[in-house]
Amino acid sequence: MSKKVTVVGAGFYGSTTALRLAEYDIFDEVVLTDIVEGKPEGLALDMNQSRSIEGFETKIIGATTTAEGAGYEKTANSDVVVITAGLPRKPGMSRMDLIGVNAGIVRGVAENIAKHSPNAVIIVVSNPLDEMTALAQIATNFPKHRVMGQAGMLDTARFTNFVAEKLGVPVASVKTLTLGSHGDTMVPVPSRCTVNGAPLSEKLSQGEIDELVDRTRNGGAEVVALLKTGSAYYAPSAAAARMAKAVIEDSGAVMPVCAWVDGEYGISGVYLGVEAEIGKTGIRKVVESKLTDSEVASLKEAAEAVRAKQADVQTL
Ligand code: LAC
Repeated sequence: MSKKVTVVGAGFYGSTTALRLAEYDIFDEVVLTDIVEGKPEGLALDMNQSRSIEGFETKIIGATTTAEGAGYEKTANSDVVVITAGLPRKPGMSRMDLIGVNAGIVRGVAENIAKHSPNAVIIVVSNPLDEMTALAQIATNFPKHRVMGQAGMLDTARFTNFVAEKLGVPVASVKTLTLGSHGDTMVPVPSRCTVNGAPLSEKLSQGEIDELVDRTRNGGAEVVALLKTGSAYYAPSAAAARMAKAVIEDSGAVMPVCAWVDGEYGISGVYLGVEAEIGKTGIRKVVESKLTDSEVASLKEAAEAVRAKQADVQTL
């Protein structure tokens, strides 16, 4: 069976994701789309010309699309679709400031994708993440396990990087976890953080951990403030690409992602950052793990904040 992934949006996030997916050399086709005429075709041509140097066979196909749905036939029957469409933040903006404009874009994209790839697993990365994931599920009317969002992989990777830099140890020796929303109610989980298997609390003071938690929560804004135009894409694309890989390989990898939560941690009926097992059906199951009482309380707080906003997106 030929394997196909579509990445919607050929900005930095989308194009970097497409290239990472192509370089894995596990897909037959990576389709990259954008509404800017010629941009996805030009990027695809360039990426294809790197194949003999980097040694991969995946074919990259560029497709200019319109809001009305022209061009989407090239995405037909994708197994996985990564939606990066929408505007990024500008310095000083919160992810939530994007909700109005990005809701219209994500809704239109999701409807077109559902028409052409009715069996796809969808990975949303557009911001505000938790709300756009909920909206994509509503717009596609796909089963909830086939729509997920990318955030926890990225936030966790940022946390890991900060801990490794602080302690001067390899990133591979550090394990961290963040749950909750991809926003103000992000829930970094220090009780699940280890360095070479030892609890983080044995390596850093509470004050130092709090500082790294804060920096993680503001991780996206810190990059936006430096770049001034656009937002982060190297770490975000790595996170999204790994999720798509887990889907196509049906790997069962457990990753922190934005998934539909239905009973876990006493929370129901909301898209929220949790750990989940990923396979070809999308979210195989949400994996509930042991958290401290205060971490569960923060997760519930995040769930309520996101729930309120997710109710709003239905009308956007
Ligand atoms: C970030 C954006 C992509 O966190 O949400 O960098």
